[in-house]
Amino acid sequence: MRATRLGKREEGGSSYAYLRRLDEQMKELAEDNFTNEVLATFEDAESARFKEIMQSLIRHLHTFVREVQLTEEEWFEAIRFLTRTGQISDDNRQEFILLSDTLGVSMQMIGVNHSKPSGATESTVVGPFYVEGAPECKNGDDLANGAPGEPCFVEGQVRSVSGGPIANAHLEVWQADDEGFYDVQREGLSEVQDRGQLTADENGRFWFWTVKPASYPIPHDGPVGGMLKAAKRTPWRPAHIHFKVWASGYETVITHVFEKGDKYLDSDAVFGVKDSLIADFVRHQPQTAPDGTEMDKPFYTLTYDFVLAPRA
Ligand code: BEZ
Ligand code: FE
Repeated sequence: MRATRLGKREEGGSSYAYLRRLDEQMKELAEDNFTNEVLATFEDAESARFKEIMQSLIRHLHTFVREVQLTEEEWFEAIRFLTRTGQISDDNRQEFILLSDTLGVSMQMIGVNHSKPSGATESTVVGPFYVEGAPECKNGDDLANGAPGEPCFVEGQVRSVSGGPIANAHLEVWQADDEGFYDVQREGLSEVQDRGQLTADENGRFWFWTVKPASYPIPHDGPVGGMLKAAKRTPWRPAHIHFKVWASGYETVITHVFEKGDKYLDSDAVFGVKDSLIADFVRHQPQTAPDGTEMDKPFYTLTYDFVLAPRA
């Protein structure tokens, strides 16, 4: 015997099962009524968008509490976790961004807000190590500025999805060094290392020197690290170089280029890897580099083109 949502008795079951189901339905109706009561308090919100967001959030939170039958102790643990997340955050450490990244929310946001036409370079997370106002550099400069690691020559072209080069496109570059650290993570370092801004030439071409980046763990000495540990997840990210590429009349793209073959490509702690963003960092023995520099030690080359979509 089965009861419908309205409590109508269906044939084929015991009356005990029927009564139990009826009881469950009355409880569900009471819960729905309670959720509706809370939703109604946002009915007159001054902004329709604020109302939409808050009502959806309430619906999801209420359903979540009921679905997992959250205990009070678990709820207080969650409040302590969020309190620690706030307390550890400051201008240099943004634990809420890490939380968003490691829960896949940042990549979900990118999916919703940055859908691209076919062929355009895909976006990925910004990450917490972007610093506005990186030094202005010229094509051919060494952005490493003394950072540890093997030299790496990076070159490519910025093009439009329609195929043509984008003259004078702008690029901003930032990355971790060979030891897996960004300059801003090194206490006492006054130099800017492994970051800079470039302007592509009239053919959209850019080239610069840096060091080959290493894979690195995201900061995991705080609450987010505790969550990753409890889930038996790795805090590591595959080696990558961050790029922000923009040009007048085109959508800006914020992305990374990942090293092909890195062992963390399939387990990136922040879910940022996309196949189209993986490229070969090719190692060379000492020889003449593509820009004519005579290299007396091994070095890498990376070639990657960026394709921008016209601004919508
Ligand atoms: C990064 O690639 O810099 C990064 C991204 C998300 C979380 C932590 C670091
Ligand atoms: Fe990074």
